[in-house]
Amino acid sequence: MNRSCRGRTLVGVTGGIAAYKSAELVRLLRRRDHEVQVVMTESATRFVSPLTFQALSGRTVRTSLWDEAGEAAMGHIELARWADRILVAPASADFLAKLNTGLADDLLATLCLVAECPLWVAPAMNRSMWRHPATQANVKSLQLRGVKILGPAEGEQACGETGPGRMLAPEEILSSLEAELQAGPLQGTRVMVTAGPTREAIDPVRYISNRSSGKMGYAVAQAAREAGAVVTLVTGPTVLTPPQVTKLVRVESAGEMYEAVMKWVEGQDIFIATAAVADYAPVEKEKNKIKKKPETIQLELTRTPDILASVAALENKPFTVGFAAETRSLAQYAREKLVRKNLDMIAANIVGEKQGFEVEDNALDVFWPGGETHLSLSSKLTLARRLIGLVAERYEARNSTENTR
Ligand code: C5P
Repeated sequence: MNRSCRGRTLVGVTGGIAAYKSAELVRLLRRRDHEVQVVMTESATRFVSPLTFQALSGRTVRTSLWDEAGEAAMGHIELARWADRILVAPASADFLAKLNTGLADDLLATLCLVAECPLWVAPAMNRSMWRHPATQANVKSLQLRGVKILGPAEGEQACGETGPGRMLAPEEILSSLEAELQAGPLQGTRVMVTAGPTREAIDPVRYISNRSSGKMGYAVAQAAREAGAVVTLVTGPTVLTPPQVTKLVRVESAGEMYEAVMKWVEGQDIFIATAAVADYAPVEKEKNKIKKKPETIQLELTRTPDILASVAALENKPFTVGFAAETRSLAQYAREKLVRKNLDMIAANIVGEKQGFEVEDNALDVFWPGGETHLSLSSKLTLARRLIGLVAERYEARNSTENTR
């Protein structure tokens, strides 16, 4: 992805006279390098024609769950996953109520319910509708759930009354959105992080796994997001609450993690593999629970796909960062892995000695072609922020070398 690209913005348009202002919003978003997919509700199409939005966004507008051609091109679940963020402008009182209750009776409401990415809404309605306790309660509850409410502005309304309820000007909506996206050294980049352990099923109740808690991976995802990146987190099973990321994909096994990473890796700028992926999985998963027997039993294991090495082998590979947990000869093994897996950077730590798995603090030795540094013992989040700082630096350096070639 080009560094100036702001990612994929799904613009939802609901029924209201302010819908005409959204045409300008879409034009501004496209000018600022957003990929834009417009989804309109049935009543929005009564105010502005889908053709207007199609011409401005460069994509066919989606209006219905039952649109066979649209669904065949990209199903609604896939569309919700495609988006880095959803921006509903204008958001009618009816739509806010729907969103708050979790109704999914049209395409836009369904997408909002499926999506795990940040959701922004720019309300627009008559001042009495806005002030009504029902609308205010909906807005409060949506805010508590992390939905960002933009506006509304005060002023003269289309109905002739004056008060709060006007949709914010497209320029104001754009600048609120961009203020959030311009946070740090990874602004505008796409980062994919794998985290946690994997579970390899033996039978319906047993599995092989490891002691990874997912803390380091979640801290890396959070630090990347704080640095302004659009983050996709692919996580194995953990008990932790994941950080707010753009896209969250939950998986169980190494095979599922491989599939998820390969599905979403295209267009990523940076890939950071913090997951403790099981190296072996049972050849067969028994259909039924294996019964106890007096004699010993054999479990045949097969190698799992190496996700990190597969990403690093891609023709258009992202800047690829691996982790190495070792119990000895840290620097030697890490350097070997850097070369063998064709990585741009590797972060290595000694496990045991009160650091590594299932602990709060960690220390890392970081290696890249031609350099290394030590990040001293600190909390995993502090460490992740320092690591992300280094990643941003090396990523920038690699890009400027490539550009001067
Ligand atoms: O070779 P080793 O397992 O020590 O490499 C560790 C690194 O490779 C970690 O970054 C881990 O996330 C990644 N890895 C992977 N897929 C595997 C095994 C390891 O992505 N199957």
